[in-house]
Amino acid sequence: MPATREGVRGAVITGWGSALPEKVLTNHDLEKMFDTDHDWIVDRSGIHQRHVGGLTSALSIESGRQALEMSGVDLADIDALVLATTTPDRAVPATASTVQHALGLRCGAFDLNAACSGWVYGLINAHGLIAMGAEKVLLIGTDTLSNITDWTDRGTAILFADGSAASVIEAVDGPGQMLGWDLDSDGSAEKYLYAELGGNLLMEGREVFRRAVRIMVDSATKSMKHAGVSIDDIALVVPHQANIRIISASMDRLGLSMDKAAIVLDRTGNTSSASIPLALNDALDNGRISDGDLVLFVGFGAGMSAASAIVRWTTTAQEHTK
Ligand code: UT7
Repeated sequence: MPATREGVRGAVITGWGSALPEKVLTNHDLEKMFDTDHDWIVDRSGIHQRHVGGLTSALSIESGRQALEMSGVDLADIDALVLATTTPDRAVPATASTVQHALGLRCGAFDLNAACSGWVYGLINAHGLIAMGAEKVLLIGTDTLSNITDWTDRGTAILFADGSAASVIEAVDGPGQMLGWDLDSDGSAEKYLYAELGGNLLMEGREVFRRAVRIMVDSATKSMKHAGVSIDDIALVVPHQANIRIISASMDRLGLSMDKAAIVLDRTGNTSSASIPLALNDALDNGRISDGDLVLFVGFGAGMSAASAIVRWTTTAQEHTK
């Protein structure tokens, strides 16, 4: 995957929002559903609880509305809505159309399925649209994996959950926030994590785990190379929230301590397309990202897909927008 060309028009994130279903399912709740226990789940995955329930459209509308309000953009100025999801409400049309209508937008709208790498794929696509002349893009990452989880299968039901997070991305004069990026997919590994149309997720957990660390480190390394930065320059890593042991092993191989990782996994479980932006928004809301910080997003997922991007954060993003 080539590096960003010199001179393309860049963008910055100017608003964000998060939405989780009200219903919380703890590990102790799962103990009543199948043979498992809280300590095993925490030890093997880092997850304590997850939110479940609702539709991809409804969660997207909630997070999208928050992001639009925070950015203060005029709804008529949004040129595109990109909805990263692997769990659309229906086969046709794109759930993005439902969300667009409910939010009062009139713009291009499409779903993007890159599984757990979806939001980073969407971020790079949004930058591509902006490089081609779009001014403002609403990017939402949402998944309702509870709808495609076999709730009797302890190998998957402990991990997957529902959530949504949105970002408003606006064009700027000049290079913008994104310094480097990488997208990848290895279709030869699709058999390790998939769901047939209308079916539930099937996963070979150990194999996914084994590949995940290598995939995340490879992609992050490529993005750093494209950005011309080293690991010492990274202030915060926002990784896909799949398993705390995957995150920890990846941080270790990258040469970073865990206090440089954004984590929401313990509270949310694996929300696929929503996982990275939920962790980003949590870090932003808790003041973990300062002006000028380099933030590394890195995800992997079914496909097996991978995506990473490095942005130089600016807390005064609005000042840079048109
Ligand atoms: O977005 C990408 C999504 N997917 C992933 O990231 C999945 C990556 N993989 C994983 O996170 C881990 O493989 C799991 C958390 C799914 C499983 O952890 P593990 O350490 O790989 O466990 P394992 O599959 O090797 O199983 C170890 C033992 C087995 O028992 P035996 O055969 O050793 O007697 C399992 O039957 O743990 C048993 N086990 C459980 N025990 C209690 C499997 N699931 C459970 C459970 N509760 N929920």
